[in-house]
Amino acid sequence: MADLRLDNVTKRFGEIEAVKQLDLEVKDGEFFCVLGPPGAGKTTTLRLIVGLERPDEGDVLIDGVVVNDVYPGERDISMIFQNLALYPNKTVYENIAFPLRERKVPKDQIDPMVQEAANILHIEQLLDRKPGKLSGGERQRVAIGRAIVRRPKAYLMDEPLANLDARLRLEMRIELKRLQQDLGQTLIYVTHDQIEALSMADRLAVMNEGEVQQVDVPDTIYRHPNNTFVATVVGSPPMNFLNCDIVRQNGNVRLRHTACIFETTKAGDPLVAALQEHDGEEHRALLGVRPEDIRVYDQAPSDTSFPARVSVVEPLGQETILDLDFGDDIIKATIPPTQKVSEHQPVYLTFDPAKLHLFDIDSRKRFYSSDKQAALSAVTS
Ligand SMILES: Nc1ncnc2c1ncn2[C@@H]1O[C@H](COP(=O)(O)OP(=O)(O)OP(=O)(O)O)[C@@H](O)[C@H]1O
Ligand SMILES: [Mg+2]
Repeated sequence: MADLRLDNVTKRFGEIEAVKQLDLEVKDGEFFCVLGPPGAGKTTTLRLIVGLERPDEGDVLIDGVVVNDVYPGERDISMIFQNLALYPNKTVYENIAFPLRERKVPKDQIDPMVQEAANILHIEQLLDRKPGKLSGGERQRVAIGRAIVRRPKAYLMDEPLANLDARLRLEMRIELKRLQQDLGQTLIYVTHDQIEALSMADRLAVMNEGEVQQVDVPDTIYRHPNNTFVATVVGSPPMNFLNCDIVRQNGNVRLRHTACIFETTKAGDPLVAALQEHDGEEHRALLGVRPEDIRVYDQAPSDTSFPARVSVVEPLGQETILDLDFGDDIIKATIPPTQKVSEHQPVYLTFDPAKLHLFDIDSRKRFYSSDKQAALSAVTS
């Protein structure tokens, strides 16, 4: 049982602010991911929670109690470190038993606890071996075994799958998710892999440069990213951004890019209201569209479409990624592998009018998203 909270926490290392005025709340029993690029402050955040770092400002709370001055050993939170280290000279059994011996758990209780952890992770047959004789995936399980053996209040895992090959990662991803559900304990899971974060998390925080950019359920992070950073970090290939002029004409609002034009003619459209709030002097914005929300045609379809030219074709098996010359920009679109296009071929594009986003050109914050009720329409002139 634990809910974990950071309240306006700042942590500095000399000049560097590793974590800046961070607010974060992780609920009891939640599978919570922290996603961000190198240097984002992910490890520092975990170290603050487990008690290996002390905040320069702000508070760390466990179950509503400020623990800034509580030693790591007394916080009852276990952490799997980024470069997990097993004791090379101890057997798997002794590696897993170590946290119990350290805490002076009575000897007769240790064996059943180690066996149970081994059962959960399917490593019963490895208990007599030394880490040097294990595969990467097996070693990973032992490290997890060591973290779960004593049933702490919460688990923190720092990129636990980073050193594994793709297939093993996939396998372990599913197992970790299952394990967390079985244990029902709070888990904070740090990763820079967006697929891991989106697929595993109940909720996730996207971090950059020591700051939280957005905290929400994966679906919302994907579909309504707060800013261009979040929009780029989740989704592969990332969202396209098109530089647009915003023009008001006879009560309509038009977005004009070098290769496409969208408009809203609907009275009371939220875009009009959004522009009144966010429209700067510039009258420019970034139009965001995900590669999978673009359709590519050989011949102009009946819907309003925009011409483009294929520059690169990248077949990936389950989908094909295209680089397209589109006005002044190069954008990416994903198409089904069955659709054949060749490099330099002229094509026609339509964008899903209910999945377009607008970002402020300076602050890079999203100020509008179209949806089914307020779809933008493509126009040719
Ligand atoms: N002990 C330290 N001394 C000085 N600077 C540090 C220390 N620990 C972290 N930093 C700095 O703080 C910032 C955040 O580091 P942190 O390790 O939290 O990032 P991260 O998100 O975990 O990155 P990665 O994905 O590479 O593991 C970085 O700029 C890092 O160089
Ligand atoms: Mg780290």
